[in-house]
Amino acid sequence: MKKIMTALAVAATLSACTSQQPKMLVLYYSQEGTTQKVAEQIAAELGADIERFDVEEPYTGNFQETIERCLKEREEGISPKVKPIASDISKYDIIFLGYPIWFGTYAPPVAALLKDINLDGKVVVPFCTFGSGGLYSSTADLQQAIPGAEVRDGFGIRSARIDKLQPELERFLVIGGYKEGEVESYPDYSEQMPVTEEQVAIFDAACSDYQFPLGTPISVGTRETSSSVDYLFTVESMGRDGNPAQSKIYVTVPKSADARPEFTIVVR
Ligand SMILES: Cc1cc2nc3c(=O)[nH]c(=O)nc-3n(C[C@H](O)[C@H](O)[C@H](O)COP(=O)(O)O)c2cc1C
Repeated sequence: MKKIMTALAVAATLSACTSQQPKMLVLYYSQEGTTQKVAEQIAAELGADIERFDVEEPYTGNFQETIERCLKEREEGISPKVKPIASDISKYDIIFLGYPIWFGTYAPPVAALLKDINLDGKVVVPFCTFGSGGLYSSTADLQQAIPGAEVRDGFGIRSARIDKLQPELERFLVIGGYKEGEVESYPDYSEQMPVTEEQVAIFDAACSDYQFPLGTPISVGTRETSSSVDYLFTVESMGRDGNPAQSKIYVTVPKSADARPEFTIVVR
């Protein structure tokens, strides 16, 4: 039987706001539109205000050109200039801050924005989209960059899985207490055991068509929910510095008939 967790709405979780619903703003950067989909869904689910911000000299959208410009900016120690935002941040209690992951963390326009706005005393909820991962590293980077804010656990989804956004976001919003509702309580992963041939095949089916090699699975923990069997692989791979490294890769196999294994996030 599946266990159900009930979450109370956010008003109960925010001690600062006793009588009124907290005011929420979804503030995001999106170059190619994927993060925008998440932003719009959050705003729609919560009835929050929403603003997309941009840089004065927009990136072209071409992957290689963007990478080259970022590397050049990094080398020269310059950051892009952000156009002033229209929203009055001081009016809001909770800022959902959205971005694509670039180079393992939030994209440079976000770093630039953080210098221009004051988030002291605000609750900041990060959300991001990515090719393989970056949610946890970018959240940790945000905590460092805006120590005066309460940066909470965030939401992230691979751009290749954006069609799964609705149920995953709904779960996140309910568990975080931003929205009332009921969600299934998932069990913990079992302890890590050496991988079997069958599990390696599942890993390969989930990961082998990704544009970069993700490494070799050595051990795995599993869990089962009402809708999927999930795997947490420990993987040996090559780090960004070219040295051997370990990562964690989460894979899910939905229980529906035509289900294919998919990796949901790489944690480096
Ligand atoms: C310059 C650049 C760097 C990127 N770096 C990463 C990365 O380090 N890790 C990752 O998982 N995805 C990376 N990506 C993929 C983007 O995070 C992903 O495509 C994202 O969904 C784009 O969001 P957007 O459509 O809102 O711009 C990068 C994309 C670009 C353009």
